[in-house]
Amino acid sequence: MSLARIGAELDMLLEWEKGTAEPMLELPPNPELGDAAFPCFALAKSLRKAPQQIASELAERFKLEGTEASAAGPYLNFRLDRSFHSVALLSQAEGGTAAPNGETVVIDMSSPNIAKPFGVGHLRSTVIGAALYRMYKEAGYRAVSVNHLGDWGTQFGKQITAYKRWGSEERLKAAPIRESLSLYVRFHDEAENDPTLETEARDWFRRLESGDEEALNLWRYFVDVSMSEFDRMYERLGVSFDKVLGESFYNDKMGAVVEELRAEGLLEESEGAQVVRLGDANMPPCLILKSDGTTIYPTRDLATAIYRHDVLEADKLLYVVGAEQTLHFRQVFAVLHKMGRDWASACQHIPFGLMKFEGKKMSTRKGKVVFLEEVLDEAVTRATAIIEEKNPQLQNRESVAEAIGIGAIVFGDLKNNRIGEINFSIEEAVQFEGETGPYVQYTHARARSVLRKAKAEGIEANGGTIDPDTLKKRTSSYEWDEASWELLKRLCDYATELHRGVQRHEPSAIARYALDLAKLFNRFYHHNKVLSAAAGDKEIRLELTRLAAERLRWALNLLGVRSPEEI
Ligand code: ARG
Repeated sequence: MSLARIGAELDMLLEWEKGTAEPMLELPPNPELGDAAFPCFALAKSLRKAPQQIASELAERFKLEGTEASAAGPYLNFRLDRSFHSVALLSQAEGGTAAPNGETVVIDMSSPNIAKPFGVGHLRSTVIGAALYRMYKEAGYRAVSVNHLGDWGTQFGKQITAYKRWGSEERLKAAPIRESLSLYVRFHDEAENDPTLETEARDWFRRLESGDEEALNLWRYFVDVSMSEFDRMYERLGVSFDKVLGESFYNDKMGAVVEELRAEGLLEESEGAQVVRLGDANMPPCLILKSDGTTIYPTRDLATAIYRHDVLEADKLLYVVGAEQTLHFRQVFAVLHKMGRDWASACQHIPFGLMKFEGKKMSTRKGKVVFLEEVLDEAVTRATAIIEEKNPQLQNRESVAEAIGIGAIVFGDLKNNRIGEINFSIEEAVQFEGETGPYVQYTHARARSVLRKAKAEGIEANGGTIDPDTLKKRTSSYEWDEASWELLKRLCDYATELHRGVQRHEPSAIARYALDLAKLFNRFYHHNKVLSAAAGDKEIRLELTRLAAERLRWALNLLGVRSPEEI
């Protein structure tokens, strides 16, 4: 709910600069206390009065139409006249889209490694990144999503070596990631006793970096088969990218970076390798060239950042990557600063915590891996079972189960604070009760079904098209019970929640908001008849139902969760 008017009045009474009081307003812990509260503790010092006294003096002087102010100890509480304010709140809840702000944000997301399983870390990066991408767009930014595929590096030397020794084209085609993984595991097992493997692998990678035909062909083949498997996953997750620019894209762009570093005198030798010292006790030097002259992960990220700034015209560069890479990004950004790129301060690592599935961690090296596809399949199987029990007549059962199963995983991730560790339980996530995606999806479908029934009776919730006089008449004769009122107020918070989510890079702000709205709508629906309400009331309640359905769909959509009409 916009508390701007109350804030403005307080600013005037306190002779404050405009916009100072509004952010200080709080939501009372209990709706009985009113619709907003202004704590007076912080004013005691400058006004040299007890907070209680400040509150009661302000209560005395506060005059705003339809708004009652009263002191309760050190708090100034506000109660809105529901009939008076509801007209404005209904139109505020309708919302609109933000105007373009002309800023470009480039979001590095997903970025799995070719020939390796799509890990849970990549899943988190994909869903968090995609949600942030949609949220930035909704907030008026030009957003560019980039999949920075790990398609280059010494591991391809190992991959080629292992494939040439033990691989089979047939197996690789049938299950690219599984075959690649087993080659990878075998390589590491056998390399313990056979040092020639490592030498051979280094040699293949050198051939790759120098453009050797055979090496390149094998590499391209690995990339293609892995990509087709990743694409299948992206499709299920409903994610696409504006750009897929793997690390290899920067092969011809790193020379200039190394030259610049050398010319600026920033490169130093250390044990045969070339590094940039960062002059910070907490930051080890950043490795730029290995002793055999090959480039490395940070070198590619330097070239990448410069490309994103110079060519993609990024004003903001975000990297949605697990928290374990914090040091890497600090080093890369510090080197950019040393290179005189002031915009390095617009680079931001958006870290996230580890996610375990039913307590199981993942380790690629040992080959003990939870495959993402298995996780998605299990969620869909569970969703299918629930639907079959709940609504066996449902049409499109298969596609609804897919939407619910995948939605449960995506929502189950995004409802958490990004940075915390998550112990994910698929069983819990795929429930229609509790703080789950399916609960929100189900609530949305319930609201849609009410609207469909109303439409069948010839009544359509008509939103902004009701003429203002009729609307005023209806809202002033409506009872505005607690449940309707709380729902209406919360519906108005969408812009604040979006703003907060974008600022903190927290899709959980949107997920929590969706959960709140779903709870409030269900309470409203439980307490109020909609379709059998008296004329006049019925239209208001249908209007609230329509606004709730639309806002739930909006929130799910931002998160990348589908909202089926019927469940
Ligand atoms: N492929 C990397 C990994 O899986 C993540 C890449 C993140 N993005 C970047 N610009 N470094 O660890």
